[in-house]
Amino acid sequence: MTLTIFGSTGDLSLRKLFPALYNLYSLKKDADFKVIAIGRRNLSHHQFIDMIRPKICEYARLSFDEDIFNEFSEHIVYYQMNLTEADDYVKLNDFYHENQIEAQTFYLALSPRFFHSVIEGFKRLDQIERNNVVIEKPFGVNTADMIDINHKLMQLFPKDHVYYIDHYLGKEMIQNIKTIRFKNALFKNSWNHEMIDSIQISALEADGILNRGAYYDASGALKDMVQNHLLQILTILTMEESENQHEAQMQILKKLRINQILLGQYSGYRNEKDVDEHSNTETYAELQCFIDNERWQDVPIYIRTGKKLKKREIVVIVKFKALEGSPSNLLEIKIQPTEGVYLQFNIKKPGAKDQIETVQMDFCQSCVEINRINTPEAYERLFEEVFHHQREYFSSFEQILFSSSLIENIQKPKPFIYDHSIPYSLTEWVEIPHNY
Ligand code: BG6
Repeated sequence: MTLTIFGSTGDLSLRKLFPALYNLYSLKKDADFKVIAIGRRNLSHHQFIDMIRPKICEYARLSFDEDIFNEFSEHIVYYQMNLTEADDYVKLNDFYHENQIEAQTFYLALSPRFFHSVIEGFKRLDQIERNNVVIEKPFGVNTADMIDINHKLMQLFPKDHVYYIDHYLGKEMIQNIKTIRFKNALFKNSWNHEMIDSIQISALEADGILNRGAYYDASGALKDMVQNHLLQILTILTMEESENQHEAQMQILKKLRINQILLGQYSGYRNEKDVDEHSNTETYAELQCFIDNERWQDVPIYIRTGKKLKKREIVVIVKFKALEGSPSNLLEIKIQPTEGVYLQFNIKKPGAKDQIETVQMDFCQSCVEINRINTPEAYERLFEEVFHHQREYFSSFEQILFSSSLIENIQKPKPFIYDHSIPYSLTEWVEIPHNY
């Protein structure tokens, strides 16, 4: 198996892709792969390996082992080329021939402004249709560009060789949502507007935009997180049970109504590298949405996401309707960094006659070491899926397009400035304290 990564010295490759490949290699899963790491910089193999070593130490979930890393690095070849230079693709084609590389996977870990050049360059490679291509968001600079890029890809590759990645679909607890919903009579039969009061989906980050100013300033939280990752969570949470998940998610998107929106920008954002000094790009977004179908009528679904907040945490909280005289039941699905499920319910207070006590069951999946070892990170899982031609955990282009125009049509309010905590909100956010 050969993987060619375009953009191998970029942030995504260094923080996510190479650590995930290292994990796969360490676990000897799909260990028989070769990586052609393409970059613009003139680096020797050793310089490139020295570049990824500290990133693997920092970001790989498995502990760093020098011997394993050395073995792993022998599977990597750094290849320098200019992505906008047509002749360089002819040389790449020769390189593939010399190394007897035939069918393989191309990974576009690039800014979308390079997509057109790379796709044009693909035409210089022999038998391109035998390969797979994995493409990362944003899948174009805007919706029209996405359509154009998709069209060009479809002319070169069979449809089922193109993988649109949303790494949230590879996260353990996001996959778990379906099991929690559909394999428990408790939830399956109460997952509707009669029983559910509201849903909150919250994806908070402590980091700022790191060194991605140019990309982020043109994107903002709505396009960076809401349009893809958070709409994936929302649609999985609310879709009907179906063999065809993409279609079930589409049915939700078509009925989704964004009712209110609040945007924020962290203080100091405008001084970040490659950010416009007058930028109004949002680094925080909060939305109140409704799904106008029978199951979900009048149930508010809140989404919030932001950078430079007090903590890094992704959770979903489902608040059930309170029965007379008793507090609401709460279900929390903990996605990141802690993985688990929390349920709050009511019992009779011991000893008392008519008093209710609210108690909790708090399951922490990631607190168990063996679960941490056995749970692949999102990118590991997605690499394995591509290597084995499985498409279940990838987005459909229809979904991407629909979400993109949904977000593009939002009338954006001016963002307020915040400093680690958000001064306004569309709802009272439920925060559940845990003992770990
Ligand atoms: C990426 C966004 O898709 O997801 C980043 O571009 C964000 O801005 C990241 O930080 C969050 O991913 P994770 O897996 O760390 O939650």
